[in-house]
Amino acid sequence: MKTVAVNASRSYEVRIGPGLLSTLGTAAATLGRAEKVCIVSDSNVFPLYGAAAEESLNAAGFSVISYVFPAGESSKNGSVFLDLLNFLAKNGLTRSDLMVALGGGVVGDLAGFAAACFLRGIRLIQLPTTLLAAVDSSVGGKTAIDLPEGKNLAGAFFQPSLVLCDTDLLASLPQTVFRDGCGEIIKYSILYDPALFAHLEAHGPDFHRENVIARCVELKRDVVMEDEFDTGARMKLNLGHTFGHGIEAASAFSVSHGMAVAAGIAIITRAAVKRGLCPEADSRRILALLSRFDLPIRICFSARELYAYTLNDKKRAGGTVNLIVPRCVGRCSILPTPVAQVLSWIEEGL
Ligand code: GLY
Repeated sequence: MKTVAVNASRSYEVRIGPGLLSTLGTAAATLGRAEKVCIVSDSNVFPLYGAAAEESLNAAGFSVISYVFPAGESSKNGSVFLDLLNFLAKNGLTRSDLMVALGGGVVGDLAGFAAACFLRGIRLIQLPTTLLAAVDSSVGGKTAIDLPEGKNLAGAFFQPSLVLCDTDLLASLPQTVFRDGCGEIIKYSILYDPALFAHLEAHGPDFHRENVIARCVELKRDVVMEDEFDTGARMKLNLGHTFGHGIEAASAFSVSHGMAVAAGIAIITRAAVKRGLCPEADSRRILALLSRFDLPIRICFSARELYAYTLNDKKRAGGTVNLIVPRCVGRCSILPTPVAQVLSWIEEGL
């Protein structure tokens, strides 16, 4: 097992390794006084791992309740959020009790936001069951729900008290869910770590699970500790996301997040080469690595379509979009770009 310590507005451990689901109860008991634990999960994940999570918590002496909602991004909304808060209140959870988010990014975001709001904050354990949640959304404290006007428009920064990443749960992910997480892993390597990039080039999808997840969590930890509230360095984690969110929206969310981010990375990388900001050789390696993981590097939308959807993204600040631009493998820069110039970036990158 590997442990990464995060010291943000709350200090906590991220534990990564096999067999951690069965340690949930004992790990929760070390967090201090709590009688009740609410497991929040979805209709895909709970049938697989809910009983084991409940058993581990019961064995450690907790009284356990479970809230299970229909799987999918469409559940990350205000009415499921309020229903969850009502469930917590009806079951008499107190400020010293705990919540466990058992699932992927949707579960972690929704449960995290409910944990942040219920009684102005109850402690949360993140137990990610997808690769994407393991390397990104379970760490760093971003929580949110979607509004009809867009993704993640209501939320809070709320750090978990513990993250348990059981690598056994990631072993049998459907290919598409696995590839989604790989897109984020490749993103970290382009942003910060040429050695990680080279490991991914050498091993492809057979990369060393525990080491690579732990490395990504370390990289994210470093960024979160530098800029927890996303006003500077953390913005770099949006590499590929500005156009990626546009692609997700343009496809009415039929293109998944990781695939859209991969295509977004490809677009910004090609545009960076055309503008002399990234060497051609690095771009070739980046595009080849994305393709090696079967991630898309071309899209079927026109520049104008993508531009329209990209402008709706919440990451826009007034008349400026912060583009995250690869300068070489292992280094990117933040380029504040007037909205009017974004279209030409897209045209150059398609
Ligand atoms: N997922 C990007 C961030 O946590 O900042």
